[in-house]
Amino acid sequence: MAEQNIYILGIESSCDDTAAAVIHNGKMLSNVIANQKIHESYGGVVPELASRAHQQNIVPVVDQALNRAKISKNDLNAIAFTRGPGLMGSLLVGTSFAKSLAYGLDIPLIEVNHMQAHILAHYIEEENYSKPPFPFLAMTISGGHTQIVEVDHYFEMTVIGETIDDAVGEAFDKSGKILGLGYPAGPEIDKRAKLGNPKAFKFTKPKVDGLNFSFSGLKTAILYFVQKETKINPDFIKENINDICASIQYTIIRILIDKLKLASKQTGIKHIAIGGGVSANSGIRQALKDGEQKFGWTTYVPKFEFTTDNAAMIAIVGYLKFLEGDFSAQDTTASARLKI
Ligand code: KG4
Ligand code: ZN
Repeated sequence: MAEQNIYILGIESSCDDTAAAVIHNGKMLSNVIANQKIHESYGGVVPELASRAHQQNIVPVVDQALNRAKISKNDLNAIAFTRGPGLMGSLLVGTSFAKSLAYGLDIPLIEVNHMQAHILAHYIEEENYSKPPFPFLAMTISGGHTQIVEVDHYFEMTVIGETIDDAVGEAFDKSGKILGLGYPAGPEIDKRAKLGNPKAFKFTKPKVDGLNFSFSGLKTAILYFVQKETKINPDFIKENINDICASIQYTIIRILIDKLKLASKQTGIKHIAIGGGVSANSGIRQALKDGEQKFGWTTYVPKFEFTTDNAAMIAIVGYLKFLEGDFSAQDTTASARLKI
């Protein structure tokens, strides 16, 4: 396809961000996100409120994505949307909007798996970012998922390890809640960890066989630790917050890197990519870079704006599927538990 001129609109509404983006021949023209502040006061995403906010946001967000890309809806070649996994009420808003728009414009509709999109975000054309060659290992770390995936081709992916309870993002967010930090706590813990001593406090790593993860024990360990220490000193959290954050982050990073090391050893694959909201974490980025020296890895970290939920990653999958002619029928439905 040498003379292609393909415009794809991507729509993402799986959780609490309403997002739309335009990709032109694999290059991002616009990437618009409306965050839902409303959940902050609840310390977590409230599904019913998320769904309602998506309904309010979706039209202006799509409008802005087209405006910023300087195109009209009639220039679009296809509409890509997140089919799942995610919150049902949230997914339904994006799914029905995408279906109606594709039907109205009489152009193809393309369903996208959110977890595949976090991985394939690496294929958005960007200066100074190289695309991982096949096969590579992708570790998707977000508020909803923690997986290690062997990627043999764009749509040939095998999950070789995943969490058996909480996602790594939840480990950050729930620890932050215990410490009285705002939601989501990941970015705040990251910021404070830079100012603290990662070895100040020791939290034991969970023992989980093979390539699977577990994070619920860590959260409980932190809760008991904080309860015990504040009984002795009521100001314990305030006085030690940076050290506590650094120690939690250090433990989480060790859990992730140890499993990646094992996965790389088992598969013999040394190209390692990360994706998902937690890959914004500066400590994980550094640990991965260190892996290049220590283990001979070549690592791929997406551009910051493509790490947390966004629609550019949905649009790039739409583009890749468009090239393969992989379209969806109008009777496709949202799927909260969609698997890779
Ligand atoms: O991918 P994402 O935006 O949404 C989901 O699909 O879940 O990920 C959100 C998660 C939240 O748990 C948030 O705390 C975490 O990503 N996160 C971080 C950082 N930035 C976002 N965790 C640690 N360090 C960060 N810098
Ligand atoms: Zn996500």
